Amino acid sequence: MNLLDGKKTSETIQDEIAAEVAAIKEKGGKVPHLAAILVGNDGGSVTYVNNKVLACERIGFGSSLIRYEDTVTEEELLTKINELNNDNEVDGFIVQLPLPKHINTEKVIEAINPKKDVDGFHPTNVGRMVAGLPAYLPATPAGILQLLKRYEIETKGKHCVVVGRSNIVGTPMSILMSKCTYPGEATVTICHRNTVNLPFHTLQADILIVAVGKPGLITADMVKEGAVVIDVGTTRVPDATRKSGFRLRGDVDFENVAEKCSYITPVPGGVGPLTIAMLMTNTLRAAKKEVYG
Ligand code: GUN
Repeated sequence: MNLLDGKKTSETIQDEIAAEVAAIKEKGGKVPHLAAILVGNDGGSVTYVNNKVLACERIGFGSSLIRYEDTVTEEELLTKINELNNDNEVDGFIVQLPLPKHINTEKVIEAINPKKDVDGFHPTNVGRMVAGLPAYLPATPAGILQLLKRYEIETKGKHCVVVGRSNIVGTPMSILMSKCTYPGEATVTICHRNTVNLPFHTLQADILIVAVGKPGLITADMVKEGAVVIDVGTTRVPDATRKSGFRLRGDVDFENVAEKCSYITPVPGGVGPLTIAMLMTNTLRAAKKEVYG
């Protein structure tokens, strides 16, 4: 069994970006700038956004954090988005999800200029990704592609089973793995809450990607010998031995599944750190006007 070290891979990618930023600065070019909108005080979201801002500082990007109480109106958010769309200093921005129930998430995402949508959530970027046109790819699926690539894992002709069909991970992941570029060329099955006999499907997987947020859902009897297992789950479970009072648990029963795998991601330290690296990659591409010219 080999560990897919997301933390190390993320650091490598961020070092590569930092070197490019240093070169841009030396030539007097535009330093990439990422803005993040955070609504409310959800512990997970606050940590994720803080980590994104810290990553910007580390690699030499400019950054702005815009915070609102969870009582913010949709109109206030849309006004801020319009402002960021028109701010030439800001190359890309994100609105951290989930948003409070009284706000229409689709409407908020559609208000973002696709050219600045470095999360890759706008329907224009989703459509361009599906069509194989240059697009910002959503960070988590893009990070998984990087892991597969940097560990030189064969994907062509393999059976990739994706469990979970969210807009952020499962759905784009399934599309990207089916594309005719490496890492891709796989036969893809997508499973979800209405899948009958989930183990039947997961047992077919040469590459199993799980993103549902149900700790320990995938047990050893559901995994084929030699499979590559990618665990996107990061559920906070109570843990009195930790200062924070919780620890992160993946969707895969790592203890028992690991010995059957050729490769597996740990939680934490697997997919999570890569999402930050890929957001930074998209922001750099935005500043360089690489995607839309
Ligand atoms: N919530 C969970 N993942 C993400 C992400 O990649 N981007 C944003 N904006 N919100 C998220």
